[in-house]
Amino acid sequence: MKLSRMRKALAAAMVCMTASVASAQDLRPEFVLTASHARASEDLSGIWTYGLDLYRTGLTDINGWVAKSRMQRFRDIDVEAEEAKGGTTLLEFDMDRGPQMDIPGAWNAVEPELRYYNGLVWFQPKFTPQAREGERAFLRFGAVNYKAYIYLNGEEVGRHEGGYTPFSLEVTDLLREGENRLVVGVDSEHDAQSIPTPITDWDLYGGITRPVELVYTPETFIDDATANLTTEERIKGYIDLRGPELAGQDVEMSIPELDLTATATTDDAGMATFDVAVPEDLELWSPETPKLYDVEFRAGEDTLVDRIGFRTVEVNGADILLNGEPIFLKGISMHEEEFGTNPARRITEQAARALLGEVKDGLGGNYVRLSHYPHSDVTVRLADEMGLLVWSEIPVYWTADWENPDVLRKAQTMQAEMIYRDRNRASVIIWSVGNETPVDDARTAFHNSLADTARELDPDRLISAALLVKRTDDENGTTLSINDPLLDKLDVLAVNFYGGWYGEDTLDDVAKMKWDTPLDQPLLFSEFGADAVAGFHDASVSKKFSEEYQAAFYESTLAMASGLPNLRGMSPWILKDFQSPRREHPVYQNGWNRKGLLSETGQKKMAYDVLADFYRDH
Ligand code: GCU
Repeated sequence: MKLSRMRKALAAAMVCMTASVASAQDLRPEFVLTASHARASEDLSGIWTYGLDLYRTGLTDINGWVAKSRMQRFRDIDVEAEEAKGGTTLLEFDMDRGPQMDIPGAWNAVEPELRYYNGLVWFQPKFTPQAREGERAFLRFGAVNYKAYIYLNGEEVGRHEGGYTPFSLEVTDLLREGENRLVVGVDSEHDAQSIPTPITDWDLYGGITRPVELVYTPETFIDDATANLTTEERIKGYIDLRGPELAGQDVEMSIPELDLTATATTDDAGMATFDVAVPEDLELWSPETPKLYDVEFRAGEDTLVDRIGFRTVEVNGADILLNGEPIFLKGISMHEEEFGTNPARRITEQAARALLGEVKDGLGGNYVRLSHYPHSDVTVRLADEMGLLVWSEIPVYWTADWENPDVLRKAQTMQAEMIYRDRNRASVIIWSVGNETPVDDARTAFHNSLADTARELDPDRLISAALLVKRTDDENGTTLSINDPLLDKLDVLAVNFYGGWYGEDTLDDVAKMKWDTPLDQPLLFSEFGADAVAGFHDASVSKKFSEEYQAAFYESTLAMASGLPNLRGMSPWILKDFQSPRREHPVYQNGWNRKGLLSETGQKKMAYDVLADFYRDH
């Protein structure tokens, strides 16, 4: 074995060994604050001031020295009042008098000069919290892309890395009566150790992209709680407390509509588990009947209510079973980007409903791939309510620093933050561990660890990954196969396929392509798609970027896919055109990836009905 391969194999083994250190318990966020929307809270969203800091002088100065105090944006200081005194004071910032931005929302949509700004921006709201004696207070950020530095009244509260998952920081002892100054540094820059790395086929969307809330809890509170229907026909769950009174607490999980109450007592760590028989009149959650129940979790003075659907999902040979019955996933892929010509990744319920309504009602779908990162909890909760099954993924996309244990831990932490957030969402059935990552030993060890982590964190959902296909052209024609050692870790195979768009294949070639994949597992097409400019028509069907070509691409790919005996679903790429700095053809793209079935303003293309007809007829 060549030295380089030996070194890689050793490194992969190291990654594997190192990875096994990060157990599920190690990866649990310090505070989950599950179902925080159901708690007493104050939404700090609104108009915040901001200030640019491209050279990060507010964090560190030249050569990495500590930032000079005159540039430390997080200082709790009334700059204007200081300056009014005159004298020797010099300050080179003022968060009170800066320009303003509507938060949440990415900065690229705010001003032309911020369209492609990639660096550090400081944000500030000042707020006066309600007086809540004897309660604990947490700042919960829905998502900040990509690194966040949090200060309250001049004190550092915490930091977070990862652009798509929530994090909560306790501020009980830092809040003061009257006006408080929150300063948040957001650094959008990604590097070779980020997840994802800097080059992606989607836009940067730097900033505070989901709501920021002040969440209040009792001294001892329910930090995490689950209730889940298992394939052994039991409802299992737990309550996990945080606070001074952990041990020996009587806790309760109840579903009033089912007249079900389960009680338990917490152990020394504040954990109590439930395992109860399924009530006979339980109505199962499904896309057709998305039944949600109010589930009440009680512990001492704390009561938490979450709306939970009960269903089972499993694999049986080549079938995906939902509630014990085979299901075909009629889906589409989506980025987290609202309709409109200048999206800010501001996903309100209205924006999410407009997108998911196209999937459910427009295309007649029952499934959505929320790519390539965890989407807003608004979207996932709406999928629960509307009856759409969900594939959710962390942005391990194209490449990562596979041999770096710190990067693996970063990816596992994102996975845990995603899974802890959405574990009670009936709609989520698949956790994906990667997208289009070329096969090599270190990459496979990295993904194996992610699959193990997901399985350990959440044994009741399916594991998949969007894989690259291997192509063989010989006297038998073109054969596509999946040659990937990661398969052993996956419940569901998934492939991205672009024959007839990228490369020299004609659409006639696509129809003749043969597949050589394992037939004893379910197979999904996690992606296939072609660009089209809405309104660009060419009857010859020979011009790429025309609607006719995109429609013909769908027809030929659907015809080819229908011949696959273990095909169990698809999420073509993609519901709507989306912004990407990789797509700059001056006539057809101008910064937009045009593979949408809808334009960015929701204009339908011909291929939309090709897919809708296919779903209706299958
Ligand atoms: C890839 C990738 C997508 C990308 C798409 C495309 O498969 O997963 O993120 O946008 O292809 O080329 O449009």
